[in-house]
Amino acid sequence: MNESDIVPLENYLRDTIGLASDSIGRGLVMRVAQRCMSAAGAHTVAEYVVRLRNDSRLRQVLIEELVVSETWFFRDRQPFELLARLALDRSRARPLRVLSMPCSTGEEPYSIAMKLLGAGLASDAFHIDAVDISEGALAVAKHASYGSNAFRGDEGRARDMWFTPAGARWYLDERVSSQVKFHHGNLFTFAPEVRYDFIFCRNLLIYFDAPMQGTAVRLLQDLLVDDGVLFVGHAEAAVLLREGLVSWPELRSFAFTRRADRPVKAKAVSTAQAHSRVRAPSLPKERLPFSDVVRRTERTFTVQTEDASLAEIQSMADAGRVDEAALLAKAHLATHEPSAEAFYLLGIIHDARGDAGGAEAAYRKTLYLNPKHDGAITHLILLLDKRSDPEALRLRQRARRPSGRGGNA
Ligand SMILES: C[S@@+](CC[C@H](N)C(=O)[O-])C[C@H]1O[C@@H](n2cnc3c(N)ncnc32)[C@H](O)[C@@H]1O
Repeated sequence: MNESDIVPLENYLRDTIGLASDSIGRGLVMRVAQRCMSAAGAHTVAEYVVRLRNDSRLRQVLIEELVVSETWFFRDRQPFELLARLALDRSRARPLRVLSMPCSTGEEPYSIAMKLLGAGLASDAFHIDAVDISEGALAVAKHASYGSNAFRGDEGRARDMWFTPAGARWYLDERVSSQVKFHHGNLFTFAPEVRYDFIFCRNLLIYFDAPMQGTAVRLLQDLLVDDGVLFVGHAEAAVLLREGLVSWPELRSFAFTRRADRPVKAKAVSTAQAHSRVRAPSLPKERLPFSDVVRRTERTFTVQTEDASLAEIQSMADAGRVDEAALLAKAHLATHEPSAEAFYLLGIIHDARGDAGGAEAAYRKTLYLNPKHDGAITHLILLLDKRSDPEALRLRQRARRPSGRGGNA
């Protein structure tokens, strides 16, 4: 099989589940396709695609091979903090509705449940729908028992509070698991009867190309109530700004509200809410000279080039101002001791600007300073996968060793 043979399958995957083969590496897609085709007895890619269209089992086998179900409890702290605060603020005549899609092996929706119960919400004050396209991931999620690698986030006392250890595994308390209802589904065809107050759709858009990202964001907006909040992954914030959503000003929460021209229905926003929202700044269309960038940057964020903190630079990047953020990150690195976090942030910013070479160099420097840096390992693997570099496999193996990080279940 050569690269052009795989095109019909790539188109099929993109159109049905949104997957852009570049995002996980064309080489990987070709290897998986070859294996699945021969297991199915299909002789050509065209024949295989026809069979996929008509056979949901065959389709599911392929999907299980291609999806990346990497996740862990309390992945990023701030989105959960913001969710709890907003949930406590919002009183509804009905339980709050939360959607976690994709939920993968369950760590995200269960983290939401733990956070809301821990914040004092009664069990009947909210419920969580959790959706994923992978049946394998959902089976793990429903089992609600986890190995230690599922705990890589900032879970505080949550593990001691809500889990019972037995052997090498941790079993989730039923008071938490009963808050979550799991569904097998595809973001592009998911059509629930209700709209949600909060949606977590994190670390999925990164696997789509720009047009499919646009489609996904429109669908997600339509699943929100009028003042609903959508949480995405940190590498996905720029997509939402590009699509015109309004970013919530909390640092590193990666939370957005719907576009002003896409309301479900008109509803007055409380003054407190109106003040707490900021308009998403539009991305600069033209490349500005450095001095203009710095001037703009200072005007909007009151940040000086030399002393911008990483948090300030991060917040600028979150707001989609990636060119300015890149300049400030470099200025920061030039004036401070080298740190893994600074190089990692620079890597993320380069990634958001589509500069794969710059991102790779920055992630490598991160790993030089901190060989176990979780985020840098994950992002470097994604970059290496894109060009089918065998180093990706070595990095994955290294990450799976007990001293590194590995699969969760
Ligand atoms: C990297 S995990 C993200 C899990 C979690 N949201 C997080 O951020 O930790 C990506 C998940 O997306 C699921 N997925 C991929 N394409 C999907 C689609 N079109 N609809 C629903 N889920 C999908 C995969 O099965 C996988 O479990």
